[in-house]
Amino acid sequence: MADQLLSTASHRLGSLPASYVRPESQRPRLHEVISDAAIPTVDLGSPDHSQIVAQIADACRHYGFFQVVNHGVGKESMRRMMEVAQEFFRLPAEEKAKHYSDDPTKKIRLSTSFNIRKETVRNWRDYLRLHCYPLEDFAPEWPSNPSSFKEVVSVYCKEVRRLGFRLLGLISLGLGLEEEHMVKVLGEQEQHMAINYYPKCPAPDLTYGLQAHTDPNALTILLQDHTVAGLQIRKDDKWIAVGSDDPHSFIINIGDQLQALSNGRYKSVWHRAIVNANKDRLSVASFLCPSNGVLISPPEKLLSEGGRAMYKNYTYEEYYDRFWSRNLDDEHCLELFKNASSLESEN
Ligand code: OGA
Ligand code: NI
Repeated sequence: MADQLLSTASHRLGSLPASYVRPESQRPRLHEVISDAAIPTVDLGSPDHSQIVAQIADACRHYGFFQVVNHGVGKESMRRMMEVAQEFFRLPAEEKAKHYSDDPTKKIRLSTSFNIRKETVRNWRDYLRLHCYPLEDFAPEWPSNPSSFKEVVSVYCKEVRRLGFRLLGLISLGLGLEEEHMVKVLGEQEQHMAINYYPKCPAPDLTYGLQAHTDPNALTILLQDHTVAGLQIRKDDKWIAVGSDDPHSFIINIGDQLQALSNGRYKSVWHRAIVNANKDRLSVASFLCPSNGVLISPPEKLLSEGGRAMYKNYTYEEYYDRFWSRNLDDEHCLELFKNASSLESEN
């Protein structure tokens, strides 16, 4: 029911409701988070193409995350995207209620937490999830309030898709493959968007905006409010805070499918969003996803000795169903697809 949404005034005050309080052992332990580390930044406008390829390859191996600047997505469309997202979450509750659903299979839905049908503890997040490709199939059903929503988000989606395809080319090259490799094997890629809204929270040390997870898709392109901290990633068994003071940068991360397609060379790393006592935070995650029916299988060139693949071949559809049937912070979903013969032996 739509009255579960956090983005209504009545939820903003008072203390943290019990349904959001994590058991002691699962709390974010914010004092242990490394705040002065940085993920690699890649300047996509650099004339040195081979350096770009090498920097991205290095980041994908060691961090699973990197930041891009001079990436070709217009500053104005980034600004308008954030603005329209903010306007959407400020709409009156009755207006937002039209889009509410807790059914993860719906192609447009406003919901809260992660998967309220399955989880036992809630996350301090509302989100609008949209399918975005092909645009003409989905955009007509998107919210028509704010009135600029469809136009702004459509423009943004097209630009982000172009950036994503370019990155998949650079990622392929970094693995010693043909530039077109990943784009070819991922098929007619779907594109999904999560517009995440994390309201101010009365007790950020007891809960999450989004608990630790890996992204089930191929590649994620995140636009975030550069004035508010929130994203943290797992690196060398520690949580590090990923901020940026550049409003025109994107955070890119490898999803589970690129980990599988690279035969484990590139990492789909754990990450989470924490919330703040004094500030709301918005982020816009764009997900490139393999076409449902394609078989996820690494190229021969990347197989290890004896021609072994780390993971079984599966279709993305099988993977996605499995992903949504679990709790978000259960073991890495790829572990469920591991080839018995490759256990312990890789990398
Ligand atoms: C996501 C995600 C992080 C953030 O939507 O998958 O990891 O900072 N979001 O909102
Ligand atoms: Ni994520």
